[in-house]
Amino acid sequence: MSDLIRFGVSIDKELLEKYDAKIRKENYTNRSNAIADLIREELIKQEWAEDKEVAGAIIMVFDHHQRDLVNNLINIQHDYHKYIISSQHIHLDHNNCFEIVVVKGKPHQLEELANKLKAAKGVKHASLSLATTGKGV
Ligand code: NI
Repeated sequence: MSDLIRFGVSIDKELLEKYDAKIRKENYTNRSNAIADLIREELIKQEWAEDKEVAGAIIMVFDHHQRDLVNNLINIQHDYHKYIISSQHIHLDHNNCFEIVVVKGKPHQLEELANKLKAAKGVKHASLSLATTGKGV
């Protein structure tokens, strides 16, 4: 960890009270940690906006019985194998599967992959969770 510095901030009293109440609910023990996390979230958003290398996870729920779907999803993932770190398949019940695909690459590449998986017929849910490689924050 780099050196800590203290800095003063002038802020509306009511706004700060609301923020303190919010971070207490989130179990922060001090304001500094909460504000540091807030700044990190902004830097991560910037990594995604500037198309820097990021990490993330695509989660999907799909119908296991949909004709050709499993093959289709595997083919799409093979096309994007460079960006896939790992995947986990969970059989939710007799009909439904849940899959987590951990990805690393440029945001536009990961979004393209997530969109292709989402558009496959029989996929009930697909979303891309935006995270970071951790290098820039
Ligand atoms: Ni399954």
